[in-house]
Amino acid sequence: TKNQDLKGKNIIITAGPTLEKIDPVRYLTNRSSGKMGYAIAGEAVKRGANVTLVSGPTKLNPPQNLKKFIQIESAQEMYEAVVRNLEENQVIIKSAAVADYKPKDYSDKKIKKSDDDLVIRLDRNKDIAYEIGKLKENRILVGFAAETNDLIENAKGKIKRKNLDFIVANDLTQEGAGFGVDTNIIKTIDAQGNITEYPKMKKEEVANVILDKIKVLLDK
Ligand code: PMT
Repeated sequence: TKNQDLKGKNIIITAGPTLEKIDPVRYLTNRSSGKMGYAIAGEAVKRGANVTLVSGPTKLNPPQNLKKFIQIESAQEMYEAVVRNLEENQVIIKSAAVADYKPKDYSDKKIKKSDDDLVIRLDRNKDIAYEIGKLKENRILVGFAAETNDLIENAKGKIKRKNLDFIVANDLTQEGAGFGVDTNIIKTIDAQGNITEYPKMKKEEVANVILDKIKVLLDK
């Protein structure tokens, strides 16, 4: 068993993709498998934390001994689950890949094909991290950034805008990083702009790097 350095700490983690319905049989989603967020949840449990995992649809089995496992589909449902559980949690880790847009009009009947082009208008979803950033008080808020270009600049922008304590940036152009795979290649960037680079690691090891940084912040 691991050292119980997070014993008694209440941590909420979001994982996986969100699913935005178009009609009863179709939806928009993304390539997140949930592996990164589930790895953080599993390692946090091993270190003694009380973990609430809010998950979009994945093929994974949830880690054992979670405090709560909340399954959602849409970004709106993820937002509501996080807000409902914010009070009791001191740490929020946003590893989910949340859809930025949803279909503006859900069709409760299956959309029929015709000879014309089909236009689906999209509406902005709430930015969950941004909303939590406004409500966080002395809680620790950790975000992720998944980028294909201008990783550092984009990540720094997100720290400020979303009021994060630090961000975990994965470079989607590198093999063995980001969506779907069992490994990740990350850089962490804190609110002061300090950047730390890590080699390719298993997502469980990445999880422990993140939890180590959180432990330092909790001890301050
Ligand atoms: O699930 P895996 O297959 O293991 O893949 C892991 C991962 C690549 C999905 C993960 O490591 C990751 O990078 N997750 C965040 C992906 C993402 O949505 O990045 P972003 O740059 O679009 O968003 C930045 C941050 O804001 C994220 O913490 C995100 O959760 C949050 N966000 C974004 C949009 C939105 N509407 N609400 C949010 O809270």
